[in-house]
Amino acid sequence: MHVLVFSTRPYDRRSLERAASGHALRLSFTEAALDAATAPAAAGADAVCVFVNDRVDAAILAQLKALGVRLVVLRCAGFNNVDLEAAAELGIAVGRVPEYSPHAVAEHAVALLLTLNRRIHRAHARVREGNFALEGLMGFDLHGRTVGVVGTGRIGECFCRILHGFGSRVLALDPQPNPRCLALGVQYVALPQLLAESDVISLHCPLTPATRHLIDAEALARMKPGAMLVNTSRGAVVDTRAVIAALKSGHLGSLAIDVYEEEGDLFFRDLSDEVIQDDVFARLLTFPNVLVTGHQAFFTEDALRAIAETTVDNVLAFAADGAPRHAVSVERLA
Ligand code: NAI
Repeated sequence: MHVLVFSTRPYDRRSLERAASGHALRLSFTEAALDAATAPAAAGADAVCVFVNDRVDAAILAQLKALGVRLVVLRCAGFNNVDLEAAAELGIAVGRVPEYSPHAVAEHAVALLLTLNRRIHRAHARVREGNFALEGLMGFDLHGRTVGVVGTGRIGECFCRILHGFGSRVLALDPQPNPRCLALGVQYVALPQLLAESDVISLHCPLTPATRHLIDAEALARMKPGAMLVNTSRGAVVDTRAVIAALKSGHLGSLAIDVYEEEGDLFFRDLSDEVIQDDVFARLLTFPNVLVTGHQAFFTEDALRAIAETTVDNVLAFAADGAPRHAVSVERLA
């Protein structure tokens, strides 16, 4: 099997080469993201390996099919960037990494929450300037506060466990309540109650038609005044323009994001010498109560190792049986 790996960074290459070592696999790497212009590079490859911001829509899949590609392996959990129906029609199998380290993402969400609440990012900058004043750095105890969790799958469950340890009251929204969360004492409620009662809301659901802009102007208006929103799921679960309006009015107290609706043009690259062209994103960066990381929640050594091992396993299973170990099917879109 020959696999062309798109959107490769040095750490991807190292972990994939280590995982593939000793197996009958040929890996080629390109830094380019998959799109209409770069797809022809897959000529001669049996499979392509892609990441969160690679475009795998119907047109690209048709291009890949014509080039002889039979398998798309995602080195991530979310698969919202793949047109699964088109893949099924074309007979291209799709595999993903359903679980690599839910702890990595949950711990990053907690890191964002704590940093933003206790203003650690601002305190760090101040102390280095010799400014030890506390004005503007006040946070709140998480103990006894209400934290709302949207999506209590693998990552949401880890997040609930950590917040339970802090002594927070944890509310959750999920069409499929998780028995382990129920056993912890997590209370499942409808969205309006979660919005109205939570001091902090953390998003851990996938991006689907049902969750696109789940947090829109109406949802934001229902949130407790001054509440914090944390998003480590997918950018488009949140309507960024509505969030900016809520931050400007002061109704939304603070925002921490690791993902952004239009992150494909920004994240995973060093743009420090360039002018940011995305005015919505640039506006977000002007708020003192907004904290942004560039889709790094997954980025731990444990997670990268697991991602590489599962990706190689998906390809080897496809080579042996015609199906990746962790196939994604159209039904999962529902
Ligand atoms: P999972 O599949 O284990 O859990 C997702 C949960 O969301 C399920 O329990 C599901 O029932 C629930 N859900 C589905 N629709 C919902 C809705 N309308 N409202 C509320 N809950 C809903 O997935 P996992 O592993 O926990 O990952 C969650 C998401 O986190 C992924 O889909 C991905 O988008 C994102 N993610 C972000 C990463 C990052 O680096 N920032 C890394 C990995 C995942």
